[in-house]
Amino acid sequence: MESYQVWAEETLAKVRAKMSWVSEKNKDKIPYTTGEDGRYDDRSSGSADWNADDGLNWWTNGFWGGLMWLLYQDTGEERYAEIAKASRRKLERCFTIFNGLHHDVGFMYLPTAGMEYALTGSEEARTIAMHAATLLAGRFNPVGRFIRAWNDNGDNDVRGWAIIDCMMNLSLLYWASENSGDPRFRQIADLHAETALKHFIRPDGSACHIVEFDPETGEMVRSIGGQGYGEGSSWTRGQAWAVCGFANSYSHTKRQEYLDAARRVANYCVANLPESGIVPIDFRQPPDVKWEDSCGACVMASGFLELAKYVPEADGAVYIRAAVKILRAIAETRTDWSESCDAIVQNCSTAYHDPKHHTTMVYADYFFTEALYKLTGKIELIW
Ligand code: GLY
Repeated sequence: MESYQVWAEETLAKVRAKMSWVSEKNKDKIPYTTGEDGRYDDRSSGSADWNADDGLNWWTNGFWGGLMWLLYQDTGEERYAEIAKASRRKLERCFTIFNGLHHDVGFMYLPTAGMEYALTGSEEARTIAMHAATLLAGRFNPVGRFIRAWNDNGDNDVRGWAIIDCMMNLSLLYWASENSGDPRFRQIADLHAETALKHFIRPDGSACHIVEFDPETGEMVRSIGGQGYGEGSSWTRGQAWAVCGFANSYSHTKRQEYLDAARRVANYCVANLPESGIVPIDFRQPPDVKWEDSCGACVMASGFLELAKYVPEADGAVYIRAAVKILRAIAETRTDWSESCDAIVQNCSTAYHDPKHHTTMVYADYFFTEALYKLTGKIELIW
């Protein structure tokens, strides 16, 4: 066993110990973040308003169930499976609300329904994941060859917007083709990935967050800084979504251009990773700004480890080293293992221009745990 695997096992023991009581305490919720009191909120309710995507339709709502499935696989404890199944059953109701649903149905239903089907063979779970894939495919703009992000909210017309994050949702489409034999899902995923490769990945390997297309002609209009510092900057979580997303697309298709894209972005990230291993919100934020994003850091580490599986060993070792550096920095300086906070990973940031920084996010805990399991090679993952 490598020394980083021993370290990952030790850290997973701490994750198991904390999640044992956190899961019990929050078993009836679908949490996103913790409040001032350190307690998890609950996104499992919410109105049926067309734009109510902060309630049950909230895009991160698949990560709680996903985290439970990771722990179930590791521990064999049935209670984790029960919490995961309960959260999947709640998420089914989103299809009837519909208006608040978005491109992030891959994040919502693959770690929940998709994983449940993979582990239990539940036909009910498979049907839910197929519904989600069909919804995602329905967001495809055939002229611009992109999957449309978000929904109009009255002030903002985003009919031509696509975002780098959506690369992660493509796994649901690949999954749907693999599980149904219908190639249309994979075809849409490939067309979107080709567009992302052409318009989001810059020659230096960095990736922009948002690209606006004309939804009628498909022409590119502009790129937008989005959750990063500004236009031309490199929002670190967006870089991480690109690494993971292209690596996952490669794993489903074995198309070399996806692997090359994942490597270009990963090499850019490795070159810009601070010596401390602490990841800023944006690699191009002003040097005097000290805001960080532990969530993007965990996604990036998980992406590096995915990529390491598909490249020659010496190159993979570079990505593994970078991932371990990030994960150790998180585990040693940006985690709360105590009972005063329900979340493990601290210092997450939603967006550079968000007034609030250094909060917790359930998907940081998900990707932190996923990355540790990737280091130990212990369990099945769904992307
Ligand atoms: N927009 C997805 C994220 O915040 O990572």
